[in-house]
Amino acid sequence: MLIEAFEDRYLLGVAQMDDTHREFVELVNQLGDATKPDFIHLFAELLAHTKSHFESENALMQESAFPAIGEHRDEHQRVLGELRRINDRVQSGSTFIGRAYVTEQLPVWFQLHALTMDSALAAHLNKLETQLVE
Ligand SMILES: [Fe+2]
Ligand SMILES: [Fe+2]
Repeated sequence: MLIEAFEDRYLLGVAQMDDTHREFVELVNQLGDATKPDFIHLFAELLAHTKSHFESENALMQESAFPAIGEHRDEHQRVLGELRRINDRVQSGSTFIGRAYVTEQLPVWFQLHALTMDSALAAHLNKLETQLVE
């Protein structure tokens, strides 16, 4: 398993984000065990899933006037660019770089991103929610 203990470590308290992150982690873990044909198929799925993951967070930031929207959106753009470039290689049958990326980089990236940028966004959203309820 490439990313472990999701429910203990990564829950942010915003259902939409948590559901998306849970799916992301499942996909990464499936990629870790996949045969080559499955890996190629799942990598394309990961790219599509991540695109909609980032679009929905970008929309949440926009709607809630999140102060750090610029750097968070730029980081999404950077990672999506990486995923697109690697997906091109993977879809042409060269899975070596894709395997290395999924094993060595994505789990580390997710851990950092979830616990910093996404956690800050979730705290901002939860604070707004509390203010609306009060
Ligand atoms: Fe996220
Ligand atoms: Fe994010």
